[in-house]
Amino acid sequence: MIQTKFQEIIGTKHPIIQAGMGPYATTKLCIAVAKEGGLGLISTIGMAGPDVNFIPEKDRKLDFGVGGTPKNVLKQTIRYVYEKLKDYPEAKFGVNIPIAKEFTMVSKQFMKAVIEIFEETPEVKNQLNVMVTSAGDPLPWAIDAREKGSKRSFLEVKKELPSVIWCQVCPNVRGAKRAERSGVDIIIASGREGGAHCAWRDTSSMVLLPEVVRTVNLPVVGAGGFADGASLAAALALGAIGIQMGTRFIATQEGDFEQMWKEQLVKATEFDTIVGRGIFGPMRFLINPASLEVVDETIKGASDLYRGKPCPSTDEIRILEERGFRKLVDEDENKSLMNAGVVTGRIHSIPTVHDLIQSIMTEAEEIILNLPNKVKKVENVIIE
Ligand SMILES: Cc1cc2nc3c(=O)[nH]c(=O)nc-3n(C[C@H](O)[C@H](O)[C@H](O)COP(=O)(O)O)c2cc1C
Repeated sequence: MIQTKFQEIIGTKHPIIQAGMGPYATTKLCIAVAKEGGLGLISTIGMAGPDVNFIPEKDRKLDFGVGGTPKNVLKQTIRYVYEKLKDYPEAKFGVNIPIAKEFTMVSKQFMKAVIEIFEETPEVKNQLNVMVTSAGDPLPWAIDAREKGSKRSFLEVKKELPSVIWCQVCPNVRGAKRAERSGVDIIIASGREGGAHCAWRDTSSMVLLPEVVRTVNLPVVGAGGFADGASLAAALALGAIGIQMGTRFIATQEGDFEQMWKEQLVKATEFDTIVGRGIFGPMRFLINPASLEVVDETIKGASDLYRGKPCPSTDEIRILEERGFRKLVDEDENKSLMNAGVVTGRIHSIPTVHDLIQSIMTEAEEIILNLPNKVKKVENVIIE
């Protein structure tokens, strides 16, 4: 049994987070992962609101009739997940709330959704105990943000949601230091190989994770490139308390994603992802004609991209992306945009969440227990 600070802080059986994967629903996945002892996350379904609304058709037809404003969608989803999990008191879940500055108003509404749920049904707090913020600067959400050096001050997360463990996704060391200053409880260090929104700069988990661990005085979870027991063992060796996985969880029986998408992940090799300009910044896709069109549009007049600098989105890119996300409904493997991490090259099956989590934990334990056999103590050689 692998026991880290993760279980101590979050109260799950295993040190594994199922990543937030908005704007798609991860509702069934969240329930399955929480029941299996990982931390399930509810994603911000249709986070961008009515004007940039990427809610795939099937996600609007969830059996609990999701609909309305983004805040109401989140409230309904939390209630639904809680109803399914309340008879499993050990099962823990959380919500992912992107805090990109373009969506501050929506992010506030999402946080208010959690606050309202806690007021209306306080027992939800026993199981919804984590909030993962991402894709933006956490400092404006800190208590005394302005005193801490932020130009803006929004809702004070730790004051408004005291029972919640606040995790922030960080793509670089600077962001991790800022998250520490903000008062977050756990940092999720997210390497650039991860699926969907990723960093401008090319820092992989192998470099980012141990450097964040060395720099901040907080527990760190690794994200980007994790898929199995070997990578969990590696994350622990690099100083992490656990892992967050996105792409690997898409390709599970319970993943609320198109079968075609899951099968494409199994087929793809480690060569088969590419980064184009996405809604919040760079975004990693499976390579197909649709993502190559986004990339063609991205690099038009944006040579700074290859200098690791931000390049703006354009109307053309947004139109292509919206079209690609909508095409998922038709399960068209050429016209759909599918996010995936480089780790797709290590995905060879579509297991149940139970089998996946069990195999990760068993394999990681075996690897860690066998490691001492690979170490031979060499006596000091004394040169006379
Ligand atoms: C389809 C997809 C959608 C994602 N959407 C979000 C999101 O809304 N918020 C977020 O913080 N991260 C998002 N991510 C990133 C994941 O949370 C996670 O950090 C990443 O998938 C980890 O890397 P991996 O794909 O190699 O496991 C998304 C990833 C994927 C694959």
